[in-house]
Amino acid sequence: MENTSEALPDVFDPRIYAAGLPHDRFRALRDRWPVAPQEEYEVLGWPAGPGFLAVTRHADVVRVLKDAAAYSSHLGATQIRDPDPADLPFIRRMMLNQDPPHHGRLRRLVSRAFTPGRIERFEATARARAKELLAAARESGPETDLVRTVTDDYALLNLTDLLGVPASDRGLLLEWTERVIAYQDPDEPPALDAEGRPVNPRSPAMLAEMFAYAQQLAARKRDRPGDDIMTVLAHSPLQDAELEMFFFLLTVAGNDTVRSAAPGGLLALAEHPEQQRRLWEGEVGTDTAVDELLRWHPPVLSFRRTATRATDLAGVPVPAGRKVVVFHASANYDERVFADPHRLDLGRAPNPHVSFGDGPHVCLGAHFARLQLRVLYEEARAALPGLAPAGPPRRLVSNFINGIKSLPLRLERCGPRA
Ligand code: HEM
Repeated sequence: MENTSEALPDVFDPRIYAAGLPHDRFRALRDRWPVAPQEEYEVLGWPAGPGFLAVTRHADVVRVLKDAAAYSSHLGATQIRDPDPADLPFIRRMMLNQDPPHHGRLRRLVSRAFTPGRIERFEATARARAKELLAAARESGPETDLVRTVTDDYALLNLTDLLGVPASDRGLLLEWTERVIAYQDPDEPPALDAEGRPVNPRSPAMLAEMFAYAQQLAARKRDRPGDDIMTVLAHSPLQDAELEMFFFLLTVAGNDTVRSAAPGGLLALAEHPEQQRRLWEGEVGTDTAVDELLRWHPPVLSFRRTATRATDLAGVPVPAGRKVVVFHASANYDERVFADPHRLDLGRAPNPHVSFGDGPHVCLGAHFARLQLRVLYEEARAALPGLAPAGPPRRLVSNFINGIKSLPLRLERCGPRA
C-alpha cells in the first residue's frame, strides 16, 4: 500500500452518514486504498468490534458479491456488527445469511411468490395509493414533509398489501422494522438488557413477537387464501421456522429500502431542477430515471461478507476469517465505471449501479421496488407542479441504510421551463 501521510478515511462511523454520503472519503479510498482496513471502535453505546476491510471500487464490490465461495454470507452473517455468537445459528437460518448451495433451495422456493405477473397486477394498487397520498400532501399546503405525508406510508402500505397483512396490523410491522433498522439512530434508542447493554435487535428475544404473528398470518392464509405473498408461502414446503424468518426478512428488506429510495429520489429531483424538468416534460423515460435515482441515492450503504479462505482483492491480502464490507454507495460513484458520476443524468444508459447488489443474493424484490418508484414518480409528475427544497432533510444515523427521516419540500414549479 502507498506510503502517505494522508489519514486513511473512516467510513465506519454511523454518524457521518447523517450528513449525506461521504463522497470525499469514498473517493480517497477508491483512489488510494480500495481495500482499506477500518477500525470498529465503540460507538453510540455499541461495543467495539474486530474491524474490517472496506471495499469501495465497483469492480471489487461486484467481485466480492459474486464470489460466495470466497466471501461468505453465512460465516459471520451480513451486518457490519458481529452478531452475538449465541445468536449466530438463529440468524443463519435466514436466506440472506446463507451461501450456495443451501441458499438456492430457499431462494427457489420463495421466488415463486415474486412472479412478474403478481408484481405487475400490483401496479393499479400502487398507483391509486400514490394518487391519494400525493393529493393529500398537496392539500396540506405548498410546503410539506414528503416523508411524513407520502413516502413512509407508501412503502409500508404497498409492502403490507403485497404480503397480505390486514390493514389493522400495519402499525405492528412498522414498529418491528424500525427497531431493527434504526437501532444506531439516537431517535430510536435500543432496548437494554438487565446490565443496561443494548440488545441486538436481530436476536431471537427481540423477534419472538414478530414470529408468532407470522405463524398466525400463515394459518389465516391457509383458511382464506388471497392473491398475496403470505398465501404462497403458507402453501409452500417452507418449514415453520423458515417461514417466520422469511417474513422477517421481507418486512425489513422490503420496507426500509423503499422508504429510503422514495424520498432519496424526490430529494435528488428537487435539488436538480433541470433534470426534474426533463422528467416532468417527458424528455426522459421513467425507467431510466428510476435507475439513475437509485444510483444517486443507494438505499443500502453497505453489506458484509466474511472471507472463507486466504485470498487477495485488488492486490491486498485478505486473510481467512476477515470481515469484508462492500460499499454500494461508493461503487455507484466509481469514476472507473460511470462517466461524470456526480452528474445526475436521468437518461443515463447503461447504468450498472449496484443498489440491488449482485451475485446469488441480488435483491429478490427489485422488480417490485422499481415498479413502486416508477409509479410514484409518474404520479408526482401528474399531481405536482414541481418540487423544490424547503429546508435541509434529516438523515438517519446508520452505516447500513441511507435513510431520510424528513424531507421538507415546496410543491411548486421549479427551475427554468421550456
Ligand atoms: C429500492 C429498494 C431496494 C433496495 C435498494 C434493495 C437492496 C437489496 C440488496 C443490496 C440486497 C442484497 C443483499 C446481499 O448482498 O446480501 C437485497 C436482497 C434482498 N431483497 Fe432487496 N432491496 C430493495 C427492495 C426490496 C423489496 C421491496 C423486497 C421485497 C418485498 C426486497 C427483498 C429482498 C430479499 C428477500 C433479499 C434477499 C435475497 C437473497 O438473500 O437471496 N428488497 N436487496
